[in-house]
Amino acid sequence: MKNEQERTGAETAELHVGGKPMRLVLEEPTAGDRGINIGRLRSETGLVTYDPGLANTASCRSAITYLDGENGVLMHRGYAIEDLAANCVFLEVALLLITGTLPNREERKQFTLLMNKNSMLHEGMIQFFDNYPENSHPMAILSAMVVSLSSFYPEIARFNGDLPLDETVTNLLSKMRTIAAFSYKKSIGEPFVYPSHKLYYCENFLNMMFSSPVADYQIDPVVEATLNKFLILHADHEQNASTTVVRGVGSSGTNLYASVAAGISSLWGPLHGGANQAVIGMLEDIRDSGKSIAQVVLQAKDRSNPFRLMGFGHRVYKTYDPRARIAKQTCRDLLTHLGISSDPLLDIAMELEETALADDYFREKKLYPNVDFYTGITYRAMGIPTNMFTVMFALGRLPGWIAHWLEMHNDPEQKLVRPRQIYVGQKPRPFVPIDERS
Ligand code: CMC
Repeated sequence: MKNEQERTGAETAELHVGGKPMRLVLEEPTAGDRGINIGRLRSETGLVTYDPGLANTASCRSAITYLDGENGVLMHRGYAIEDLAANCVFLEVALLLITGTLPNREERKQFTLLMNKNSMLHEGMIQFFDNYPENSHPMAILSAMVVSLSSFYPEIARFNGDLPLDETVTNLLSKMRTIAAFSYKKSIGEPFVYPSHKLYYCENFLNMMFSSPVADYQIDPVVEATLNKFLILHADHEQNASTTVVRGVGSSGTNLYASVAAGISSLWGPLHGGANQAVIGMLEDIRDSGKSIAQVVLQAKDRSNPFRLMGFGHRVYKTYDPRARIAKQTCRDLLTHLGISSDPLLDIAMELEETALADDYFREKKLYPNVDFYTGITYRAMGIPTNMFTVMFALGRLPGWIAHWLEMHNDPEQKLVRPRQIYVGQKPRPFVPIDERS
């Protein structure tokens, strides 16, 4: 009988269990890590794999984003992040991720028109904002509002390949931006500013955030370009925690809007997108406490102290995050443009980076600044409040979530996400009636 390698022509790895060999086919990528296909592992050996945080597990094949963490490479559909950030508007990158191709001028124009057509929220949804308590975190509002889109637009939310994709996607992309701006206006007690058909994506967002019935807001093209670049930097990052959640929730047949709402909740945590808010908290704390940078670095290295340098380290990057490099330069350019000759938080961040990168602990563990390290300082300079930083990340990540949700739905190999476990609980024991329990 032919073995796996002879049958498929693929290279195999050999696993020995109880003295018996098992051949496991190797999966060949276009670039990056090769995989061992363990599809028959449990049925043939009774074994499962144990991989906390799925750090060594490829849960799907994907053609959207390529990331080389050792060399600091990030590409979407084959294009380098540096080229996309320098030359595209955010909606072009969104279309690239979702459809696989960069739009031409006419396609971009049509998409912009559709975005504007879908930008308003159902008036019924607007009432919701009134009932959130003061100081509600905008991420809570964003997640709740996005899942609510499923009830207000059920025909579109149920997208299953039969409906025009554009309508489902633009409805979400455009309305989430409106929800984000409205949640900010609600938090400062100002009236909502509606989206305008005359404005492009980033202009519209800035106008909804900062214009008011009593004062016109002049959109600064450099601020707009900075926002555009930052949204592109966040647009996708392959199988990160929130994208894995979106895929996982969608794998049970849940609609796109509800799947994305779950992704927003996953992003909120400080180890993921919430790090951009945590970085500013950390920098302000250093400024206000008068701690030296050396003391802070010492604290971050102390294993008995849960403190970590926020905006540092990454599951995949073991070198400088290419997005952080662009964010750092963009941050400097914006501050210069705005005439901010010195920002104490930027000074602290740069000193912290320099000290950490020269420290053996950070060098040995290959901990470098990640995308969140410089974004908060930049958003702050744009007038965006700290509790909106993770919302900004979510707006950027949305096309990636959509692209992955669609890829999963169109992949014949995808299944309901339902992992196994290593059970370490009680062995069977006799039931104790309530009156006999101690
Ligand atoms: N400060 C100090 N030590 C750190 C840090 C840090 N920021 N990050 C990792 N380490 C240490 C960690 O203590 C561990 O040490 P040891 O080997 O002695 O136990 C070692 O480095 C490996 O860390 P890990 O937690 O096992 O690695 P991970 O891949 O699970 O964690 C991470 C990745 C991003 C959760 C982590 O680096 C971290 O907590 N960073 C701070 C939060 C942050 O900036 N998150 C944003 C990530 S990038 C944006 C995004 O995509 O969401």
